Amino acid sequence: MPHLIRRILQTALVAATVVTFGALYMSTPAAAQSGKALFNQKGCAACHGPGGAKPLQPAYPKLAGQNADYIVVQLKAFKTQQRKSGQSALMWGMAAQLNDKEMTAIAKYLASEKGI
Ligand code: HEC
Repeated sequence: MPHLIRRILQTALVAATVVTFGALYMSTPAAAQSGKALFNQKGCAACHGPGGAKPLQPAYPKLAGQNADYIVVQLKAFKTQQRKSGQSALMWGMAAQLNDKEMTAIAKYLASEKGI
């Protein structure tokens, strides 16, 4: 009998774990996950901070919670060097390494982060 109870408890534990991780996974859109990886891999976090929430310098903008469409427009403007405001030159090379899909993924990720 104790053996059976242990089996039932183990099964319940496994089921609960699957449901919990499933819920966590479902609540984070796939695009936002790869956007996070890109944001970190491409070196964006070095200046804008983790999740774009804690910039390295006061003059560097916070990106966490920013509108996704706006971010994509800005990244394209940096890539084509049409945006020249302030320290935009720092962004030209950074944006140039991103294609449209990557810009969208990063933008969605940043929009989903808490901040601003
Ligand atoms: C060397 C530091 C640095 C790095 C690395 C960097 N940025 Fe920036 N970023 C800046 C600065 C400075 C600005 C503000 C430019 C200005 O003065 O107008 C900026 C602006 C931006 C903006 C516009 C924000 C707004 O409110 O208009 C976005 C979006 C952005 N960066 C995204 C990124 C992404 C994505 C990456 C990685 C691919 C990245 N940045 C890497 C320094 C950096």
